[in-house]
Amino acid sequence: MDNKMRVTVDYNYMMAKFLGDKGIKDSELETLKDKAAKAYDYVKENRGRDDLFMGWTELPYNQNEIVADIIETAEQVRKKFKYFVVLGIGGSALGPIMAFNALKHLHYNELPDSKRNGPKFYVEDNVDPVRMSALLDVIEPEKTCFNVISKSGATSETMAQYLIIADILKTKGVNLPENMIFTTDANRGNLIKIDKSFGGAFKKYVLPDGVGGRFSEMCPVGLLPAAVLGIDIKAMLAGAAYMDGLCSKPETDNNPALACAVLQYISMKQGKNINVLMPYSDNLKLIADWYCQLWAESLGKAVDYDGNVVNAGTTPVKSLGVTDQHSQVQLYIEGPYDKVITFISVGKYACEMPIAYGCEDIPDVGFLGGHTMQELIQAENKATAYALMRAGRMNYTINMPEVNEFTLGQLMYLLELQTAYTGALLNINTFNQPGVEDGKKATFALLGKKGYEAQKSEMAASPSFDKKYIV
Ligand code: PA5
Repeated sequence: MDNKMRVTVDYNYMMAKFLGDKGIKDSELETLKDKAAKAYDYVKENRGRDDLFMGWTELPYNQNEIVADIIETAEQVRKKFKYFVVLGIGGSALGPIMAFNALKHLHYNELPDSKRNGPKFYVEDNVDPVRMSALLDVIEPEKTCFNVISKSGATSETMAQYLIIADILKTKGVNLPENMIFTTDANRGNLIKIDKSFGGAFKKYVLPDGVGGRFSEMCPVGLLPAAVLGIDIKAMLAGAAYMDGLCSKPETDNNPALACAVLQYISMKQGKNINVLMPYSDNLKLIADWYCQLWAESLGKAVDYDGNVVNAGTTPVKSLGVTDQHSQVQLYIEGPYDKVITFISVGKYACEMPIAYGCEDIPDVGFLGGHTMQELIQAENKATAYALMRAGRMNYTINMPEVNEFTLGQLMYLLELQTAYTGALLNINTFNQPGVEDGKKATFALLGKKGYEAQKSEMAASPSFDKKYIV
């Protein structure tokens, strides 16, 4: 395996050696050794279990046939369609848009056809009417392949989008299965019912039973859109498998995901309740959105496995280097000691941009000439980490040698495993989302869905609708 493409974690600036009494002592890591090993064992022993929603651990290994099928379908889509639109929300949207942003040209849709070499790409998650209308202004629905992604087929946002698009296509005389691919549960759910009403004519991909939305980027949810974009999905899965191999030991100094989990756990216990992810790369900007869902939905839990009320979790914050140096970093350096900052650094950017000479008579500007933008962004990344360390602020860095399919696969798997280990350390169910379900039910009640009448009456009578406190 190509060791030069190995993703690594540098956690020096979390430690007392650099942060003094604001840092973690080696002895604290030692004290947690057994607990960390137990968390490791929990994840190892339950790998692949559908009933625990841990099927995602095996995705790098068990999809050969599906991958071949996806690549074939993607080729046809690339030939036949001018646009590819994902309709989905949450885990069904954040992964596909993140991989698109990470691995394709940053202005992909604006490229001329000859340079883009594939359909224009959109991911529509929100149900803001302005956004849907804007999409319809820039696509031609009859020349668009719509990938409807929903495990349940009962998510109001996705199904509202489906109804709107299905109606438009019907009006244009398009047979829906010609222009739509469903990614959904194998047997259950409303997309299966819709497919049956068309005699099973839709092309369908399965969102496997044991894979929750936020862990689904490396199943057909993410693989089909990626393949349509010409992304090497085999290399992405190989990257995930490689990281899995790097995390096969129960010791923190031998397992990058376990190390990150333990660092996060210790800082959580110290009351640091904000978890910032700050990639220094525009290509990786949306990994922070994807991670926010992964971390927040997985760890934000009211009770632990023993029934204790724990209200677990820390608040993930997305940030972008260097942009947010001019926005949030002041707070990180001088505000409350309530954060851990995770940087993602890039060793070699996809291209280089020399900074021209000029303004030699203005020293504040002239010193830049002859350097490159890569040098500048990397220097600012190092300098920010150093300044935070000097201010006693915990931070660590995930190093990506380059941003490519293989390293992105590693990064995703690292963050997924880190989340699973942290959940195990907290003794909570990492893989359910009861809070999200409550919100979905309340929406059903407000919009008059059958079966939710009692909840509707309860909500109408609720004091939260009392006008007294509206100004
Ligand atoms: O992580 C999750 O499980 C959620 O974010 C879901 O992906 C999201 O709610 C969409 O659900 P569904 O796939 O059923 O439409």
